[in-house]
Amino acid sequence: MANFKVSRVETTPFEGQKPGTSGLRKKVKVFIQPHYLQNFVQATFNALGADRVEGATLVVSGDGRYYSKDAIQIITKMAAANGVRRVWIGQNGLLSTPAVSAVVRERVGADGSKATGAFILTASHNPGGPHEDFGIKYNMENGGPAPEGITNKIYENTTTINEYLIAEGLPDVDISTTGVSSFEGPKGKFDVDVFDSTSDYLKLLKSIFDFPAIQKLLSSPKFSFCYDALHGVAGVHAKRIFVEELGANESSLVNCVPKEDFGGGHPDPNLTYAKELVARMGLSKTHSEPNPPEFGAAADGDGDRNMVLGKRFFVTPSDSVAIIAANAVQAIPYFSGGLKGVARSMPTSAALDIVAKHLNLKFFEVPTGWKFFGNLMDAGMCSICGEESFGTGSDHIREKDGIWAVLAWLSILAYKNKDNLGEGNLVSVEDIVRQHWATYGRHYYTRYDYENVNADGAKDLMVHLVKLQSSIDEVNTLIKGIRSDVSNVVHADEFEYKDPVDGSVSKHQGIRYLFEDGSRLVFRLSGTGSEGATIRLYIEQYEKDSSKIGRDSQEALAPLVEVALKLSKMQEYTSRSAPTVIT
Ligand code: G6P
Ligand code: ZN
Repeated sequence: MANFKVSRVETTPFEGQKPGTSGLRKKVKVFIQPHYLQNFVQATFNALGADRVEGATLVVSGDGRYYSKDAIQIITKMAAANGVRRVWIGQNGLLSTPAVSAVVRERVGADGSKATGAFILTASHNPGGPHEDFGIKYNMENGGPAPEGITNKIYENTTTINEYLIAEGLPDVDISTTGVSSFEGPKGKFDVDVFDSTSDYLKLLKSIFDFPAIQKLLSSPKFSFCYDALHGVAGVHAKRIFVEELGANESSLVNCVPKEDFGGGHPDPNLTYAKELVARMGLSKTHSEPNPPEFGAAADGDGDRNMVLGKRFFVTPSDSVAIIAANAVQAIPYFSGGLKGVARSMPTSAALDIVAKHLNLKFFEVPTGWKFFGNLMDAGMCSICGEESFGTGSDHIREKDGIWAVLAWLSILAYKNKDNLGEGNLVSVEDIVRQHWATYGRHYYTRYDYENVNADGAKDLMVHLVKLQSSIDEVNTLIKGIRSDVSNVVHADEFEYKDPVDGSVSKHQGIRYLFEDGSRLVFRLSGTGSEGATIRLYIEQYEKDSSKIGRDSQEALAPLVEVALKLSKMQEYTSRSAPTVIT
């Protein structure tokens, strides 16, 4: 047993340590400045208060991006010095964001201990490496992100901080081997427990899904499967869950070895960045694939996002959550007793609304950000939720869960094909989506992203759009001058949300133009970028007529897109003639 002392290190505040939608995200070169990470960690401990820190059990892990290993050692030493009793670390410091949430909620240590919180080291879908992004966020005892009350306090503390505590004499821990190491400090024992990254998460997923049914589907010669982790942390879990537990071929895994720089890629699962998967699934414009798999999916760096694809077919995230909700009770044992309610973020299409109406379910429309779902779930009001930004999940944890979404889709496929795996034709992903549209109607949907544009230009564009809202008549005159085949705007506002659980009000959550025929245009500034500003434009049109649900979505939405771009003067304000990403 090694002994350590507590040393107090003098420091001065850094500007801009304000946690965004999902924690503090900055370039690595910012994070590696002496004291930078330390200040933020100490500010967090101080915001939590001694009650929640002394004697605590803290999870510290992440997506394995560049600087994670150093950060884990620093946080461990600071935790020891601040009186934390135990630090739990996933082997090699790797735990997806949903796995962290599962560990916080479910894991019981050998001595009966339970986690009280977690530092998650990730910048999610942002690139990694020495010249890219690092990030850190704190999750609470319920496994969900710290509420604004705490993150505001953290920020306040970062502006006045003058010292931090760190253990002196505590050796670096070997995070590559599982096992518990014990140390002794001035306040008593301190343990570092390095554990298998997937076991606890897997155990939870096994209690939700019918694994034997999924295994049967995956082993059928009629079915084929492909999973791309984009070199993020989901690869570690995918190997164990899809290959070792469910019997998928090892060759179904693409980019499933985590890399500190995500192989130089952008670990965001969409049609632009998940290039290899898109090609394998027969969706590439430049490469033709003779025999794509039946099902494909991708994850982001920290494994909470997902993209679901069928053979030569893209499932929009807004449709995905609606389809999961529509089939959950039949196909997923965890939901067999019924759904408590469903929820989506405001810019997500209204496909879920229609399902909720049909099934008579409680329904909530919340601002962008997973924390809003967490409140509903803690209050027992919501079982399944999702966002257009490739996030889907349920109340099994308090983060979105990429692998959960894949297992949900595999469960639906297994259920729809339970009598087809021998004789008969396989019901494909595309069949399921088209049947869904035939029943509920189709929400044509697309999102245009203008990444890293000039921040002032972006702000001016938003101001311009809010100003326009003061006269709907004028807006309609403008629209008619752009496209006469687009319906009238009947309402325009900035989305505002009153949380039904805690009564808090969130204002300015996106600019909306709502049309007579149910179409919507939504403009938002991203809250997750680390440089410049990113404008997101969401375009949606509802089609109930079953003879019109089979169109190409870009073609169907072209008139609305033209209206959106001209109405907002996108090119004028951003100097961009095209978006960076279209999903
Ligand atoms: C994170 C949050 C999501 C949110 C997404 C939007 O992934 O966890 O809840 O939908 O960011 O990001 P944006 O860049 O649009 O603010
Ligand atoms: Zn993520």
